[in-house]
Amino acid sequence: MRPKVTIIGSGFVGSTSAHWIAAKELADVVLLDIIEGIPQGKALDLAEAAPIEGFDLHIRGTNDYGDTAGSDVIVVTSGAPRKPGMSREDLIKVNATITRDCISKAAPLSPNAVIVMVNNPLDTMAYLAREVSGFPRNRVVGQAGVLDSARYRTFIAHEAGVSVEDVQAMLMGGHGDEMVPLPRFTTIGGIPVTEFISAERLDAIVDRARRGGGEIVNLLKTGSAYFAPSAATVQMVEAIVRDKKRVIPCAAYLEGEYGLHDLYFGVPVVLGAGGIERIIELPLDAHEQALVERSAAAVRSSIDALKGA
Ligand code: LAC
Repeated sequence: MRPKVTIIGSGFVGSTSAHWIAAKELADVVLLDIIEGIPQGKALDLAEAAPIEGFDLHIRGTNDYGDTAGSDVIVVTSGAPRKPGMSREDLIKVNATITRDCISKAAPLSPNAVIVMVNNPLDTMAYLAREVSGFPRNRVVGQAGVLDSARYRTFIAHEAGVSVEDVQAMLMGGHGDEMVPLPRFTTIGGIPVTEFISAERLDAIVDRARRGGGEIVNLLKTGSAYFAPSAATVQMVEAIVRDKKRVIPCAAYLEGEYGLHDLYFGVPVVLGAGGIERIIELPLDAHEQALVERSAAAVRSSIDALKGA
């Protein structure tokens, strides 16, 4: 039997996630939205690409949570995107209402699923999803680190004139402008990145990666990024449904790791069939730990805003 993945939200991130899942022939897909016709239309359109691309999957669009029952993975993309000038935090109120609604409907129907949160503010919505679902922390994970490190890796590859495939990078922290790229754990073909790129250029790349989401919002003006966010989401879906045990940065609920408690925060994890199977605690130096704490303070104030909302 093929794995079953529900994607809640059939906007750009949701439907493009379905596209990547189909292209990789990973799982049957249920694309759900409250808007009638859109998920059905997008799912049918994608299903009709199957003979050309050669994927044998059931792809269905629906407005009915009943169709999501028994999912192995639930991806939550629904919510408002940012507009230019907005921070991810500006989305808390509207996206918290949406998240509460969809998690409370979807989680009881798929009690063994891994929930992958994608809507913003990312770490705060993951926090809310864990609370509402009542799932153990290993089965509620936030997507952000894979996206943020993909942006960072893209810029490094372009700067160094090397293949993106050979750039390995780790990054920590909340999905916000305070995120913490870790040049010390960045290599090109196993060689420290500092052998290829000067400290000054690397700082500029780190800065651009931090503000990578906003860069796209400012260009698009009517929405936010979706190709890279959905590709990042599907890398996580693949790690779960194929039990790959990928070592990637994800937003995880911390209970003392890195000295942090009771918040979602981007950390290196082992992602497999059980969701977050392990949180890896890197030995950080004082500078890195200070950056982590600054990012954690930003996430904490967002969670406080959620509690007040
Ligand atoms: C981004 C938004 C989706 O980083 O958070 O592109």
